[in-house]
Amino acid sequence: MKVVGFVGSPREGGNTEILVGEMLKGASEEGAETEIFNLNKMDIKPCQACQHCKGNNGDCATDDDMQTIYKKIKEADAFVLGAPIYMWQMSAQAKLFTDRLYAFFMTGFEEKYGKKDVALVFSQGNPDEKMFEGYINSTRDMFNLLGYNVKEVLSSNGNQAPGEVKNKEEVLKKARESGKNLVS
Ligand SMILES: Cc1cc2nc3c(=O)[nH]c(=O)nc-3n(C[C@H](O)[C@H](O)[C@H](O)COP(=O)(O)O)c2cc1C
Repeated sequence: MKVVGFVGSPREGGNTEILVGEMLKGASEEGAETEIFNLNKMDIKPCQACQHCKGNNGDCATDDDMQTIYKKIKEADAFVLGAPIYMWQMSAQAKLFTDRLYAFFMTGFEEKYGKKDVALVFSQGNPDEKMFEGYINSTRDMFNLLGYNVKEVLSSNGNQAPGEVKNKEEVLKKARESGKNLVS
């Protein structure tokens, strides 16, 4: 069982990284092999809408670090995408990654590589836990429609300072539980 985590925050040691890390910890406690990538450190260009993928078995023509990620996702059973909420949505780093998953969409990916389980985790500054519920639900629906199986969705609110979530044991525990559920 392999699980790969993607962190969509530029803040190293930030809330998103901590939450993705806890999810991976939960998954590894269940025996999964895990790996984590920081999307901000990677060269990921926006989707060029060239449609190359559609005539080429899901291969993307853009030669950047997303090629490494495509390989990792193909080899994995599940992945975790973590993003801070920026301007009511996922961060640009997470959005670039998400748009580039277009390459796999409607190219027989599931048949070749299996249906991947997904966990989504968001960190927001706003203390109102319901504030971005609509956006988070529609993001979950979108991943399901893309052909993934979103098993876990976690959102942590009121995280303004970098790394603040590490003092919230209840949230960390939920993240570890989500990681366990992702692989069980
Ligand atoms: C550019 C930018 C936009 C943000 N927009 C929002 C927002 O719309 N709603 C919100 O609750 N928090 C917003 N925040 C706060 C972050 O979501 C919050 O601090 C989060 O915990 C950061 O996660 P990190 O530590 O992993 O970077 C924003 C932060 C930045 C830098």
